[in-house]
Amino acid sequence: MTNLFSTTQKDSGPVECLGQTFPSEHARREHFTKLLAEKLKDPAFRKIEGFPQGTDDAILAMSDPPYYTACPNPFLEDFVHHYGKPYDPSVKYSREPQTIDVSVGKTDPLYKAHSYHTKVPHLAIVPSILHYTEPGDIVLDGFGGSGMTGVAAQWCGSAPSAYRHELETEWKKQGKAAPKWGARRVILNDLSPAATFIAANYNLPFDVEAFSKAGKQLLKDVEQELGWMYETTHTDGKTKGRIEYTVWSEVFTCPHCAGEVNFLDEALDEETKRVRDDFPCPHCNAELTKKKLERLYVSRLDSATGNTLQVPKRVPSLISYRIGKTKYEKKPDAADLALLQKIDALPLPGTVPTVAFPFADMWEAPRMRDKGITHTHHMFLPRAAQAMGALWGKAQAHPDARIRGFLTFMVEQAVAGLSVLNRYGPTHFSQVNRMLAGVYYVAAQHAECSPWYILGGKLDRLVKAFGNFKVGAGGAAINTGTAAHIPLADGSIDYIFTDPPFGENLPYAELNFLVEAWHGVMTQARLDAIVDRAKENRAAQKSVDDYRRLMAACFKEYFRVLKPGRWMTVVFSNTQAAVWNGLQTAMQEAGFVVANVSALDKQQGSFKAVTTAVAVKQDLVISAYKPNGGLEQRFAERGATPESAWDFVQTHLRQLPVVKVKGGELEFVAERDPRILFDRMVAWFVRHSAPVPLSSQEFQDGLRSRFPERDGMVFLPEQVAEYDKKRAQTAQAPQMELFVSDERSAIDWAADYLKARPSTYQDIHPEFIKQLGAGWKKHETRPELSALLEANFLRYEGTGEVPSQIHRYLSTNYHDLRGLEKNDPRLIAKAQDRWYVPDPNKAQDLEKKREKALLKEFETYKTFTGRKIKESRLEVLRAGFRDAWAAKDYATILRVADKLPDATLQEDEKLLTLYDMALTRSEDGI
Ligand SMILES: C[S@@+](CC[C@H](N)C(=O)[O-])C[C@H]1O[C@@H](n2cnc3c(N)ncnc32)[C@H](O)[C@@H]1O
Repeated sequence: MTNLFSTTQKDSGPVECLGQTFPSEHARREHFTKLLAEKLKDPAFRKIEGFPQGTDDAILAMSDPPYYTACPNPFLEDFVHHYGKPYDPSVKYSREPQTIDVSVGKTDPLYKAHSYHTKVPHLAIVPSILHYTEPGDIVLDGFGGSGMTGVAAQWCGSAPSAYRHELETEWKKQGKAAPKWGARRVILNDLSPAATFIAANYNLPFDVEAFSKAGKQLLKDVEQELGWMYETTHTDGKTKGRIEYTVWSEVFTCPHCAGEVNFLDEALDEETKRVRDDFPCPHCNAELTKKKLERLYVSRLDSATGNTLQVPKRVPSLISYRIGKTKYEKKPDAADLALLQKIDALPLPGTVPTVAFPFADMWEAPRMRDKGITHTHHMFLPRAAQAMGALWGKAQAHPDARIRGFLTFMVEQAVAGLSVLNRYGPTHFSQVNRMLAGVYYVAAQHAECSPWYILGGKLDRLVKAFGNFKVGAGGAAINTGTAAHIPLADGSIDYIFTDPPFGENLPYAELNFLVEAWHGVMTQARLDAIVDRAKENRAAQKSVDDYRRLMAACFKEYFRVLKPGRWMTVVFSNTQAAVWNGLQTAMQEAGFVVANVSALDKQQGSFKAVTTAVAVKQDLVISAYKPNGGLEQRFAERGATPESAWDFVQTHLRQLPVVKVKGGELEFVAERDPRILFDRMVAWFVRHSAPVPLSSQEFQDGLRSRFPERDGMVFLPEQVAEYDKKRAQTAQAPQMELFVSDERSAIDWAADYLKARPSTYQDIHPEFIKQLGAGWKKHETRPELSALLEANFLRYEGTGEVPSQIHRYLSTNYHDLRGLEKNDPRLIAKAQDRWYVPDPNKAQDLEKKREKALLKEFETYKTFTGRKIKESRLEVLRAGFRDAWAAKDYATILRVADKLPDATLQEDEKLLTLYDMALTRSEDGI
């Protein structure tokens, strides 16, 4: 087997690959490229879902098979078969969920070696991989983007000793044993060929020294060829200067005299480098602001397409150049303008793509049309097109395929920076990479940089970053396609780390289009898992429901390929409750059991448990596992019995952390809360299409008699000693933080409140009102406190003995009531009219009564004849959906769902799950 820690493979010696020996890397590549070329001719292969759009030649040019293919990878299964360990149920594996801080490592040179949308730093992922896996295990990321999961997996083998020491010390503090160091193997997948190309270059070995030489040569060659385009004469009239960047300004017209106004010339204060809010017209002196100006357009013949375009009139306004080490600025003179005209007359290099942007499917279409951009080559001014064309052409011409790949990885980073997307920032020290992230925004002032200004420092930084990162052949395999269809065998993956698309935030396929056009291989945009409402082509729009379905298909695939009992970490930057809820629902529907959701509190650097979907920007980390085969098998034998429910709880509790310590204090483990355990149990039965065998109160009762409880958390008997030990060392009991957003959480809040202090209506009312504040769900009816108390709690009316719940509270908290009998008049007087939490038997009676009332109210929703039920009670809907589900009455669920505002459904995990399942059932005619 190939040594995973070997440095780069040179062509000088034999190499092993997937069990075969080849005389050289070149021979290996040739062998597999031939196989891939044959495969590409197979129409069935090309029909695989998610297959990118591109010619055979373009796909082959990007690929380095068997490790990387810019299309579905036909060698992926072999890779895992060869390097992986088959699932063996007799091998013991047990881990608690571990959360991570996704914000660490953003300044690391390796992380910065290539940018990509919403990258997660490898150093943030490393602790997770170390926690869940062992050296040689196989990690998967199906939304791999730039491949940082792969970098993290391989980095575990080359972590410097200082890092190891720091991590081991930290883990020791948390009571954890040191990890097993050593590289893990990785499977990376992404829908976008631009992404997998970056990932492949990050993760496959190359000869750093040879690249360094080739990179220097490339920049030198480009300079020899195009250096004349970047020369200017110093203000002394004789010395030659080297242009770093030229600032182009759009020209506007004055609304008063119609004279031309060069915005930069008039608005930029040369001293302070600030753009003035108002300035005089150079012709008529009228006071102008940017808003008052109108953009001037000129006609331009596009020789590549033969079309005449209306483009904003742009003029060069400022040249920044260097003589030796000194920087200067000047206004372009006649010679500079003549030079630009000469360049303008040159033909477009053949390497520059002239592809039409698919505007019908793009969010950014109006913005781009406005700037006269319809094709990819319109993104570059004439000199920049020459420069980018030369860089690309020279990188692609390198004779060694692997060096060719990495040179392309370097030069493609100049694509956006050389384009008109690069904004001029007068107060910025550097004008490199000044694009606005996530959009195709063309500003009125553009800094057109020279290739050396962009890439000179980059080359050195790449050499340094990759010089310290050792990867071996066989460390990674990369696939281009949809995560809903990954060519891997069932149960073959040891751990999944993944950062899925965030719903409405970024249209990846659209943003990657420009770079993919250079490669000639494009994303299959139809499958881009995003929420996308703004397209002209209505058929291509994607709703929150479409997003959820796409994600559900991807999570089903994750579930299939993961080994039983193994973990998945999902990081997710949340902004919309509906999108987050969709994601969680999709995960649970696929069969995963969520064991922890936490959000990073950036200010405090700590994590907090998240139990409800909220619409705030948060970085969430979700830990979920695939139940091991034992539980599933026992369920298949037993069916939907209470025993199966307890079996589930038993298995689930084993997967949860026993203690969480932060700064010496114990933290509440939210997943051990009885109410959350109930929700997880219900989700598990629903996902198995089985009736839930226990009511909420029966569950709470059974839980109490079966499992020990501490500080409101449920444990397995064998876990409790460890908790007690830690608890004895801390002064404060951990507290569950409840976020009240609907009737259910309001009831939970009241239960916690009354458990701690049975109270009268008057006592609790002001506190209760405070809870129904800003976080309340938009379409949820606000409950009346009296009705809520009546339906869920008991009031002591002053007759008979004082209930023990109130007795306990009064005798501990009131000096003068201590030691009194339960029928003492003084105690009775103080206890009268206090509300308290019923004991288990009474609670079950209350629950039944309440359920009946809820179902009665559900009838009014069923018969509602208006257009939308603007305000409703989620508790009524949940009870009604549950009841209809149990009766297989899917039509009722769908009919009532249809009358609800989208948010009501999409923001509630329980309703959404039942709705989704009902939809599938009725579509399948089951
Ligand atoms: C949040 S980004 C991941 C970025 C990654 N963590 C990194 O560090 O570069 C999500 C990725 O999902 C990809 N994607 C979108 N839909 C997909 C699908 N159906 N299958 C696979 N990948 C998809 C996008 O192309 C994008 O690269």
